[in-house]
Parts: sequence; C-alpha cells; structure tokens
Amino acid sequence: MRKILPTRLSKRTWFVSALLIALFLLIALAWFLIPSWFTGSKQESSDVTRNQIQEDFLTKHWQRPIPLQGPVPANYSALEASLKPESCGSCHKKQYADWKESLHSRAMGPGPWGQIVDMVSNSPDEALLCMTCHAPLSEQLPVLAKVAANGDTTYEANPHLDKELQLKGITCAACHVRQHQRFGPPKADGPNATKYPPEMPNHDGAKRTPYFDRAEFCKDCHQFDPENSLLVNGKPLQDTYREWQNSMWAKDGVACQDCHMSSRRHLWKGIHDKEWVRGGVQVAAQLRPQRAKDNVTVEVNVVNSAVGHRFPTYITPKVFVRAALLDSHDEMLPGTEKEYIIGRDVRFEDGEWKEFFDTRIAPGKTFAEKFQWELPPNAAKVRVWIEVHPDHFYHVYFYPDHLKRQDLSAAGRQLIEKALAESGKTPYTLFEEFLPLQTTYTSDR
Ligand code: HEC
Ligand code: HEC
Ligand code: HEC
Ligand code: HEC
Ligand code: HEC
Repeated sequence: MRKILPTRLSKRTWFVSALLIALFLLIALAWFLIPSWFTGSKQESSDVTRNQIQEDFLTKHWQRPIPLQGPVPANYSALEASLKPESCGSCHKKQYADWKESLHSRAMGPGPWGQIVDMVSNSPDEALLCMTCHAPLSEQLPVLAKVAANGDTTYEANPHLDKELQLKGITCAACHVRQHQRFGPPKADGPNATKYPPEMPNHDGAKRTPYFDRAEFCKDCHQFDPENSLLVNGKPLQDTYREWQNSMWAKDGVACQDCHMSSRRHLWKGIHDKEWVRGGVQVAAQLRPQRAKDNVTVEVNVVNSAVGHRFPTYITPKVFVRAALLDSHDEMLPGTEKEYIIGRDVRFEDGEWKEFFDTRIAPGKTFAEKFQWELPPNAAKVRVWIEVHPDHFYHVYFYPDHLKRQDLSAAGRQLIEKALAESGKTPYTLFEEFLPLQTTYTSDR
C-alpha cells in the first residue's frame, strides 16, 4: 500500500496542475473580454439583489392585514392547527412565558381596544388601520373590507373572527405563521439552543430565514411611513426605525433584536421597565465648586449610551429631570423645585398637531443642564432625581380629552376610564442623589 500511494498521488498532482493552469488562462482571457466581472459593480449589484430578496420576503410576510390562514394541512393535530398563543405555549413554554409578560401580548389592552371598539361602527377603515399593528391577523378582525367593481369599499362582519384571539394582541402567529406554515430564524446552536423531544409533533418543521434577525422585521409596526403619513415639524409621530438607521448601532450591525431579544428572549422590554432603562442611559449629578457662599450650581448629565434610537423614541413618554433644595431634616424648601423635560412634546390642539419641543437624546449624545439657586440660610442639601412617565401623553392629554367626547359607547368609555387609571400607575424614579452643600459657608452666618 505504502509504495503504491506516491505514484498515484503524483499522477493526480499532474492532472490537477494541468487543470489549474487551464483555469488560470481562462480567467485571464475573461479579464480582457469582460472586465466588469472584476470591478466593484458586481459586489454592489449582489447587495442590491440581496436587499431586494429581503424586501420581497418582508413585503409578503407583513401584508396588511395578514391574510386568512386558510385550510389546515390534513396531517396537523388540533393543537398544531391552533393559532392561540396558549397552544403554541404547550410546546414552546419559554417563549410563551416571556411573551405573556410582554407589551406585545397587551397590544389590545383597554387603551387601544377602548378606541377601536367604537371605531368598528363609526369608522371601520380606521379600526382596521389600528389593528394592522395591534392585532394583525385576519382572524382577529371584527369586519373585513370588500372592494366593489366600481371601487367602493364596504365592510362586512368577518365570518372567520375568533373573538378570543382578537384581544390577544400581537400573537405568536402574527410573527411566525402564514398559511399554517411556521417561519422562524436560523436554528440557534450552542448550549442555549431550544431542544424538543424527538417524538413531539412539529407542524412539519419551520421555514428558516435570516430576515427574522433584521431590524427591518420590526419596521412595519415601529415606523410610520415618512412619505405617506402625518409629519409634525418634519417628523412622523413614530420614527424609531429611522432613528436607529441613522445611529452608530445600525452602522455596527446591531439590530433591534440584538438588544430587545438578546438570547432570543421574547420580553421586548422598553420604557416601562426601570432596570432596562437604567441599562441604556448613564446619569451623573455634580455640585459645581461653590464660588460664593450664597449661591449654588448643580450640573446634570444624561447620556444615551446604549439606547439604539432616541431616548425616548415615542411621543408618549416624558422624562422629568428635577432638583430641589432640602433643609437639614431632608424637608424640601418650598419654591426651590426646578425641572427640565426630556421628550418630544406633540399635541393635537385647535384642530391640528403641533410640536412644542423635542429634547429627546440621540444615540451617543448627552443631555446637559444646570440648576442654580440663591441659597436660603437653612439649605443643607440638593436633591436631584429623574422621574420617567412612560404614558404621560395618554394620561395627561389624550384620555382626558377622549372622555369628553359625547359619541362614546358605554363599553368604550369604561375601557378608556380603565386605561386612564392604568396609565397613571406607570411612573417610576430612575435616579436619585443627595448632594450635601459645603457647610463651611453655612456655618459662617
Ligand atoms: C405539538 C407541539 C407544537 C406546537 C403546538 C407548536 N409547535 Fe412550533 N415547533 C415544535 C417542534 C417540535 C419544533 C422543532 C421543529 C424542527 O426542529 O424543525 C417547532 C419549531 C418551531 C419554530 C422554529 C424555531 C425552533 O425553535 O426550531 C417556530 C418559530 C415555531 N415552532 C413556532 C410555533 C408557533 C408560533 C406555534 C403556535 C401557532 C407553534 N410553533 C406550535 C412543536 C410545536
Ligand atoms: C405587528 C406589529 C408589531 C411588530 C411586528 C413588532 N411590534 Fe413591537 N410593539 C407593537 C405595538 C402595537 C406595541 C405597543 C403594545 C402596547 O403597549 O399596547 C409594541 C411594543 C413594543 C415594545 C415595548 C414598548 C414600551 O413602551 O415599553 C418594544 C421594546 C417593542 N415593541 C420592540 C419590538 C421589536 C424589537 C420588534 C421586532 C422583533 C417588534 N417590536 C415587532 C407592534 C409591533
Ligand atoms: C404602524 C403601526 C401602528 C398603527 C397603525 C397604530 N399603532 Fe398604536 N402603537 C404602535 C406601537 C409600535 C406602539 C408602541 C409605541 C412605543 O412604545 O414606542 C403603539 C402604542 C399605542 C398605544 C399605547 C399603548 C397601550 O397599550 O396603551 C395606544 C393606546 C395605541 N397605540 C392606540 C392606537 C390606535 C387607537 C390606533 C389607530 C387609530 C393605532 N394605535 C394605530 C403601532 C401602531
Ligand atoms: C413581534 C414578533 C414575534 C412574536 C409576537 C413572537 N415571536 Fe418568536 N421570534 C421572533 C423573532 C424576531 C425571533 C428570532 C429572534 C432572534 O433571532 O434574535 C423569534 C424566535 C422564536 C423561536 C426560536 C427560538 C430559538 O431558541 O431558536 C421560537 C420557538 C419562537 N420564536 C416561538 C414563539 C412563540 C411560541 C411565540 C408566542 C408565545 C412567539 N414566538 C412570539 C418574533 C416574534
Ligand atoms: C443598543 C440597544 C437597542 C437597540 C439596537 C434598539 N433598542 Fe429599543 N430600546 C433600548 C433601550 C435601552 C430602551 C429603553 C429606553 C427608551 O425607552 O428609550 C429602548 C426602548 C424602546 C421602545 C420603548 C418606547 C420608547 O419610547 O422608548 C421601543 C418601542 C423600542 N425600543 C423599539 C426598538 C426598535 C423597533 C428597534 C430597532 C429599529 C430598537 N428598539 C433598537 C435599546 C435598544
């Protein structure tokens, strides 16, 4: 054996070398004849094709509304055929437990549903528009649009409506199921990859695509179309995808999922979660060296260090940066409280949307402001604190205005009253610090 091997090898080496030389000559010839093959334009055009394939997939995946799923494949059990999140959860326990806690599962809570329930009869087209993002499966819609030959649209009761599914908001199926076929991300590997018992029914597996990991997957719901929707001071009311796109995170290839679904968790934490927000911003409060004994300056910096878009991104939250003077018993000295507001203040007034200010912090940028007081003799400390009101716009402007309307149904009114109460419970203190004043000055007096 050993002796034969080298001669065989050398014969093969000759053959391979001849082939390589031939190939080289062919490439050299092509270089002269079709030079565009070897220039950058080929790279670019393949990027364009790749983006086109992604766009085609996502356009089909995110039709508005998502078409009816249609007939169930004959080999599916009742459990595999069900669109209910609880059914998915009987096999996908981890994702279900996360999703149930997330705001996606509450997207048809009293705030949205309280408005939509009255639109169904008053302006069904608007109801359907809201539901393309808040409950996007056709099986969730109370009415379906029917376009006549002359272009007129009428709305008819939806015979496929599943009333229970309707209020489940953004279900597993909204992101993962089309015509009963499952779609998902490429299989994860490593110790954290989800494993299933071998005998478990699996709805014929899943079609796996990398598009589940792209920011564009979230875009249709988290970005209002800048070409085709209301602009206030030049910006759509919701601009999250474009804010991300213009940030260093997009340039570094960090998608929404890398932050909001890391380890493929289904929690989608955001402005409503104190710990989560703490991980995204850095706050520092500092006393300026006191030059005179009778006045004091405090500098507060808030850095958007790890939020992938503006902090905060939506028009509804407000972040109050506050400071006040305290006496030696930690009692606030009346009239010394001051505040700055981080947020985008837009409101509907006198029949139009107006922007009053936009102080949101772009990714990587800093909000820096100073507080200054003339010191009363009994001042001992400065208290600096930051309060986040995630639903400020709804609680202070929108729901109270909505409840003044005369055309609400009893059910709609009751839901909005509930939403008003709930939106008042979400504020929290993000940051608090006490800065002692220099006692050498106060003891002088
Ligand atoms: C009877 C159990 C069962 C039910 C019910 C079920 N699945 Fe699955 N699912 C599986 C199994 C098993 C796999 C693994 C298939 C494979 O490896 O190809 C799977 C794979 C998937 C995948 C691919 C990702 C992965 O972990 O491999 C997605 C996404 C998915 N299911 C979504 C859903 C959704 C959404 C529902 C409800 C509408 C659902 N499934 C209902 C058993 C189930
Ligand atoms: C079908 C539409 C839809 C899709 C797709 C979607 N979202 Fe959402 N998302 C919503 C809606 C509607 C809400 C508000 C739910 C509520 O509070 O009622 C929301 C809420 C959130 C929140 C919580 C916001 C807060 O106020 O704290 C985060 C974070 C989030 N989504 C991230 C994502 C990410 C990341 C993706 C892509 C993987 C995604 N979403 C895909 C519609 C969608
Ligand atoms: C293009 C998708 C889209 C459309 C259309 C849409 N929303 Fe939303 N909605 C969202 C997203 C995303 C959020 C969460 C935003 C965030 O926190 O950044 C949200 C948040 C809300 C909230 C606050 C969350 C809650 O549960 O209280 C209410 C209320 C709401 N929407 C009502 C409506 C109503 C009513 C309509 C129709 C007039 C509508 N939305 C249309 C995407 C949409
Ligand atoms: C808003 C869209 C959305 C909703 C709603 C949603 N998912 Fe997902 N799901 C995703 C995305 C995006 C990924 C891929 C995340 C990644 O790769 O980082 C994913 C991944 C998965 C995977 C693969 C997990 C793994 O470890 O490989 C399973 C299984 C799954 N989802 C099941 C579910 C189930 C069950 C529900 C409902 C309880 C659900 N999903 C709700 C968007 C969604
Ligand atoms: C680098 C990490 C990171 C990336 C990337 C990222 N986010 Fe966020 N996101 C956060 C943090 C941290 C918060 C909490 C602070 C806040 O609310 O702005 C947040 C908050 C949110 C909120 C709550 C609403 C609000 O007004 O702030 C939504 C909705 C959201 N993100 C959606 C998205 C979407 C959609 C993308 C992709 C286009 C994305 N995020 C990309 C980290 C990230």
